[in-house]
Amino acid sequence: MVKKYIVAGNWKLYIERAEEAKKIAAVLKRKVKLFPGVDMVLFPPAPLLPVVAQVLGKTSVALGAQTISVFSGGAHTGDVSGAVVKNSGASWALVGHSERRAAGETNDTVYAQVEAAKNAGLHVMLCVGETEKDHGGAHFSDIARQLSSALIGFSKTGGKLVVAYEPVWAIGKTPAEAMQLADLEEMVIFIRKTLAEMLDRTAALKVPILYGGSVDGSNAAQLLKEGGVSGFLVGRASTDSDSFIEILNACKK
Ligand code: PGA
Repeated sequence: MVKKYIVAGNWKLYIERAEEAKKIAAVLKRKVKLFPGVDMVLFPPAPLLPVVAQVLGKTSVALGAQTISVFSGGAHTGDVSGAVVKNSGASWALVGHSERRAAGETNDTVYAQVEAAKNAGLHVMLCVGETEKDHGGAHFSDIARQLSSALIGFSKTGGKLVVAYEPVWAIGKTPAEAMQLADLEEMVIFIRKTLAEMLDRTAALKVPILYGGSVDGSNAAQLLKEGGVSGFLVGRASTDSDSFIEILNACKK
């Protein structure tokens, strides 16, 4: 079986209007057949999920929420539960994004969100990443902690899990400031090893590891080839269909 890449678009709050969201979704719906080697996932702001789901219809482009509540129903004003996400036509939850962690979500919260996503039948895209660029190697233990705390309850064999490694210092910058290829390759090996200590070995080998942080059409092909990743979690470049398609094209090379 040919390995498939995953390219996910995290729209953050860059997209705020339904019309804008529909436009991007319509373009991707038209183009998706050109990229049989890529699984696409879009993460719009939660209230736009049904709108985007409606445009995408039965295409293979999947949808997810940018975060989910640790609660499942009840008196939790403002929260969006896994069930709400699922009922909006989405099948993924992005969990532990650094911008959520910066807003106060801890490793414990992330663990509870992973559990909530699983319980709602959502696939989990777990974000991990160190805040500061570290030359001494201390960041490896941060990553190990983020992984092990989030995945304590993850089934040893089941459940769909993707890890998105996003060094915080590389997010929202220019492609030149993205992570160095050799450093990325080393981190991917480390994440794989950490997963193998926690999950069933065969399952751990299959978990796709994505990279995120200033990816665009100019650096995507090389990051894939030399960074050892299975695809990308893309922020800014996912909010413009032409830029997103350039990244999809890079996955064909
Ligand atoms: P960026 O964001 O592609 O704009 O750097 C990535 C992310 O935060 O997921």
